[in-house]
Amino acid sequence: MKAIAVTPGQPNSVHQRDIPAPTLDMVPDGRGIRVKVLKVGVDATDREINEALYGNAPPGDDFLVLGHECFGRVEEVGANVKSVKPGDYVTATVRRPGGSIYDKIGTYDMTSEETYYERGINLLHGYLTEEFVDSDEYIVRVPTGLKHLHVLMEPMSCAAKAIQQAYECQRRMKVWSPQRAFVLGAGQIGLLATLVLKLKGLEVFTLARAPGPHLKSEIVEGMEATYVSTRQTSLLDLADQVGKADLIIDATGSSQIAFEAMQALGLNGTLVWTSITGGKKLTEVPSDQINIEWVLGNKLLLGSVNANSDHFESGIKDLALGEVMYPGVLQKILTSPVDGLDGYQEMMRLLVEDKDALKVYVNVADE
Ligand code: BGC
Ligand code: ZN
Repeated sequence: MKAIAVTPGQPNSVHQRDIPAPTLDMVPDGRGIRVKVLKVGVDATDREINEALYGNAPPGDDFLVLGHECFGRVEEVGANVKSVKPGDYVTATVRRPGGSIYDKIGTYDMTSEETYYERGINLLHGYLTEEFVDSDEYIVRVPTGLKHLHVLMEPMSCAAKAIQQAYECQRRMKVWSPQRAFVLGAGQIGLLATLVLKLKGLEVFTLARAPGPHLKSEIVEGMEATYVSTRQTSLLDLADQVGKADLIIDATGSSQIAFEAMQALGLNGTLVWTSITGGKKLTEVPSDQINIEWVLGNKLLLGSVNANSDHFESGIKDLALGEVMYPGVLQKILTSPVDGLDGYQEMMRLLVEDKDALKVYVNVADE
């Protein structure tokens, strides 16, 4: 069957190749699920893997099948699978467990081992192919009523985890009740984080560079959050005008902004970093000022990567609620479809060149 892969370590190596079709017996104990891939989303991670900034092939292979945001339909299940049946729509988690205690209890997104296993990213093949087989542990059902949001499940799981982690850490405050949030970046993670925070009742300011109106500002405002162009109002000016934030989610992909955000966080607040920055940028920061404010304000900086199936499930619930609260808004994120696996060059071109492509995804197959 067809697959879209890269040769890790070799820039711009994206190509199509033939790989063997998977079979149910690849998963022991009758827990296998065979999924027909319908759609796969791609993002900056896929672009950077193709730039050879990171990403490794599975042991024994010299290629890595791309794609970590999948949406598909169950074709066949093993004898002991209870969670889904043929015909159900599903998505799948990205990480697979290593050997640490955190991996063993289903929280593989919190592994304490340096080596991590992520389908389509590191040491495991991804979903940009026709079918895959995996254990029921990693397959999450998508309600039929959300199938039009298909590839948003994985990015949503990352937004859901980031915010859940912040609340988890803030139990240190006993009565934490955040009022104001800044979301930095209006890409897919920023927009989905905006939704989660709005559904929690916060006043949300979502910041990105370009002055609106445009699609991103329309989506932000469609969720009753406030869009702020940093060309018109800088992050620090916003903090002066409306007050510092109790919670900041950085999803800009800029380490410079991630550090700048430290100056916009209020007392007892939490700043969550969610972007992977593959480069080697150096940034000067007012370290004395940040240090004193951080200590005197009991502030917290939290990194959040990936997600486990619990975060997928809570993300899916928030997408469902989002559809009811703000009908039709979320699907506006899905801007840029590519036709079939054969369109992989166009997929990369959109990722690299099209600044208006909010979400690039491949229509791998019709149902
Ligand atoms: C993915 C995450 C992954 C991270 C680091 C992101 O693009 O959505 O699932 O953990 O990259 O590889
Ligand atoms: Zn991703």
